Amino acid sequence: MDPARGHTRLSSSKKTILRSVLALGLVLGCISAVKREDFKTCAQSGFCTRNRAYADYAKETSNWASPFQLNPPSLRLQAGVLKGELINTQEEQPSSRPALSFELQLIDNDAVRVRINEQDPIHPRYDGVQDTVIVKPYGLANESTYQFKQEGGVTLIQYGAQNQNTIKITSAPFKIEFLVNGVSTIVLNEEGLLRFERLRKNQQESAEEDGDGKLVDQDAEEGGGGGEIKIEKSELEKKMEENFWEERVIRHVYGIPEHASSLSLKATRGPGAPYSEPYRLYNLDVFEYELDNPMALYGSIPFMLGHSKNISAAVFWMNAAETWIDVEKNIESKSSGILSWIKTKPVLTPLTKTHWMSEAGVLDLFVFLGPTQRDIFRQFSSLVGTTALPQAFSIAYHQCRWNYNTQQDVSQVDAGFDEHDIPYDVIWLDIEHTNGKRYFTWDDAKFPNPTDMQQALEAKGRKMVTIIDPHIKMDNDYHVSKEGSDLDLYIKNKDGESSFNGWCWPGNSQWIDFYNPKARDWWASQFSYDRYKGSTKALFTWNDMNEPSVFNGPEITIPKDVIHYGGVEHRNVHNLYGTMFHSATAQGLIQRNETNQRPFVLSRAFFAGTQRYGAIWTGDNLATWEHLEAAAPMLLSIAISGISFAGADVGGFFGNPDAELLTRWYQAGAFYPFFRAHAHLDSKRREPWLFGEPYTTQIREAIRTRYAYLPFWYTLFHEASVDGMPIMRPMFTEFPEDEQVFGMDDQYMIGNALLVKPVTKAGITQSKIYFAGNEKWFDIMDYDKVEQGPGFKEVASPANKIPVYQRAGTIVPKRERPRRSSKAMEHDPFTLVIALDSQGQANGRIYLDDGETFNYEKGEYLLREFRYSNGVLSSHDPNEVSSSQDQDWPTDFMRRFGELRIERFVILGNKSPLSQVIPHQVAGLFCAFTPVKQVLECSQGPSGGHICTVKEPQVVLGEEFVIEFK
Ligand code: GLC
Repeated sequence: MDPARGHTRLSSSKKTILRSVLALGLVLGCISAVKREDFKTCAQSGFCTRNRAYADYAKETSNWASPFQLNPPSLRLQAGVLKGELINTQEEQPSSRPALSFELQLIDNDAVRVRINEQDPIHPRYDGVQDTVIVKPYGLANESTYQFKQEGGVTLIQYGAQNQNTIKITSAPFKIEFLVNGVSTIVLNEEGLLRFERLRKNQQESAEEDGDGKLVDQDAEEGGGGGEIKIEKSELEKKMEENFWEERVIRHVYGIPEHASSLSLKATRGPGAPYSEPYRLYNLDVFEYELDNPMALYGSIPFMLGHSKNISAAVFWMNAAETWIDVEKNIESKSSGILSWIKTKPVLTPLTKTHWMSEAGVLDLFVFLGPTQRDIFRQFSSLVGTTALPQAFSIAYHQCRWNYNTQQDVSQVDAGFDEHDIPYDVIWLDIEHTNGKRYFTWDDAKFPNPTDMQQALEAKGRKMVTIIDPHIKMDNDYHVSKEGSDLDLYIKNKDGESSFNGWCWPGNSQWIDFYNPKARDWWASQFSYDRYKGSTKALFTWNDMNEPSVFNGPEITIPKDVIHYGGVEHRNVHNLYGTMFHSATAQGLIQRNETNQRPFVLSRAFFAGTQRYGAIWTGDNLATWEHLEAAAPMLLSIAISGISFAGADVGGFFGNPDAELLTRWYQAGAFYPFFRAHAHLDSKRREPWLFGEPYTTQIREAIRTRYAYLPFWYTLFHEASVDGMPIMRPMFTEFPEDEQVFGMDDQYMIGNALLVKPVTKAGITQSKIYFAGNEKWFDIMDYDKVEQGPGFKEVASPANKIPVYQRAGTIVPKRERPRRSSKAMEHDPFTLVIALDSQGQANGRIYLDDGETFNYEKGEYLLREFRYSNGVLSSHDPNEVSSSQDQDWPTDFMRRFGELRIERFVILGNKSPLSQVIPHQVAGLFCAFTPVKQVLECSQGPSGGHICTVKEPQVVLGEEFVIEFK
């Protein structure tokens, strides 16, 4: 039983109840469900309720029309920006009130930004989200690239490289429709549900007089009231700052993580809707979260992607306040083209309507017009940033539990991996390693010599991660706490004067205000080696509890009315707090070295842009088959919303997985971008060898498979860092035309090459897999098992196997020599697995750098594109500015990487066996070529395909080569 976790969050009279429930649950092997009463429903949120009621009213009112109207004479389009005034005709004396400002920006990469704000408000709305979320100034469309005309009350803008985008703005009632190649993809305010309430003086005053804003009245519970829930009073009376907007995106919609739900979002309103609550975005620490539920979880990304057979489009609602999103699905027949100068196409489309409701801020919406998903990922990531290229070790396997208890424990676990020949790169220490949950300190009795401990790990190429949370124990003898007070760096109560304090792991704590630039710099400086005693360059960081989790706060988080630097009320920025913390930590890890090392920081909370700072994971899951199954859709939703470096606790955090579940989870986890096993304090030990055979061998194989594919993973991380392509991809991203896969989330792609179908049920030895496309798929464990797409097929998935297939037409780089860490593989040669398509062609890439520093930014990397066509394999530099043999490479880099060999080609799917290898161009500095005929071997599999292996082809990565196979 966790001594702190459960009961510290609740009022004292509840402790006993929770303890006994949880203890019972553990005995039975199933754990009690989420404490729903701790968290709000839409009915308990004033603005959500009012906006849903408004939607109902609009629907029930015949001839309902939005009261908002654009004032056409006010509209001006200049230098890519359309500006005008928006009037709410329902407002009392509209003519005497300043209109709302309306702005539409044509961004130069086929994205559009729509902003609506108050002019001359009594209190300006918070508009600072853009300062932290948008990475750099973006370009606006050049005047020569768009046309603008006004016809009656309709404004038409046509733009894009092929003139493919049309924006149709209707003034009264106000509505904006986006068309791509004549097909309507997104409509804003189609149903007329926009609301934009102004702050009124009496509301503001009443807000100032309001109480503490607690959701759960804990006194009532203590009095035996059985957890009576009251609506947060302040919601109803306080800041009536909500935006209510709607949009229509055709067909399936995806995204808006984090929810323990399907990839394709479910309806939350309308007849037959599976959910009755809207999807909620409000970063929360949800204890034992429930599956198949739109409740808010640890992170929030207000990004939604819509996809139909014809087209993809997406929106980003740039708001960090509490947000609810309703999804409604209807079937509608529609002719989209009503304008003479637009190409028209009749469309019969299932329409998805979504309603977005935020508590505060300005209306700031980006629309990404694609048209392809790759375009959308590029458009979105150019705005909020791409995945930071991680340290190479961090994409290998991580061993964590709450807690590895002593230095000796650490060295025993470390030795256990060597003894059982299982590779791993990182061992983690949870909160118990500290002196009384004082971060940046060590429990000296348990960890007397942390520096030696880390150095011993580093000697084997391994690393350590320690946890550093954002709550700081109130204790004047704790240097971090005292400095925080002396420098006045904590979040303030609503009086703006006293520091807020609340309850978390260490007991009474304060929270650093990461909105204060001084606090961020100070925090970053805590990671310097002289301040963080006992830390070395082999030590990296885990940021947890950063929603932030406050055990005695409303909904287990910080009250909305606490105040940040600059007088900003927390409600405006809640969903960004964790990211501000994450970024300050990453900054600290960068700053502590003179040698330009990349950071590694894992965070639990996230927002759009988190990918710039490190990895995230899906929090406290359960050791159940259902949670294993839920991990894939959750990670896919997160991936398409910009965060590729994500994983789920392998094995399940709460509870005790049996050997089969643990093994299956390792097999699945080996194909999560972030691969870490983790377990709760009360769970039984479960290091990979503890269940004995055959499980140890099966887990070893799963982890080794991950290590074998590390070159492929690293290449995908590079791609994600350049153009925002997700690493773990939904099937519909790779097969956008195949409607069969649009709702599929139990199988997925890694990059464009590997199809993964985790086994998520007990006792399964057969898996039903959908093989998309018209090409073959090669079983990666047994290359001669080949499946032909398209269609479902039952394949064998015995206990030692996760079904993974390489797609015909791809070339995947691997390293096949098992070692004890990724660092130990650094000088190993590569294998290229070349899976030919029906035309005898295949393509792939490899990206390589030192795996540690930012020197790749100076060009110290290798990018090679491999092409196989007409029996000829070539390797060349696809990017003229990348390193090439003509370039004057730093010797050190060349010595380490340019000379790395390819030791093997495996060629799959050739129609006839190969008998000859003819080098055409394998010249260069490092390559003394000798004929290699003798090392070519071919065999024929039962499916008729030929598997040919060329050993020691005498080529190095640093050189371009052309080799013919006959
Ligand atoms: C939170 C984290 C979990 C961690 C625990 C103790 O519950 O989600 O991963 O082990 O806190 O730090």
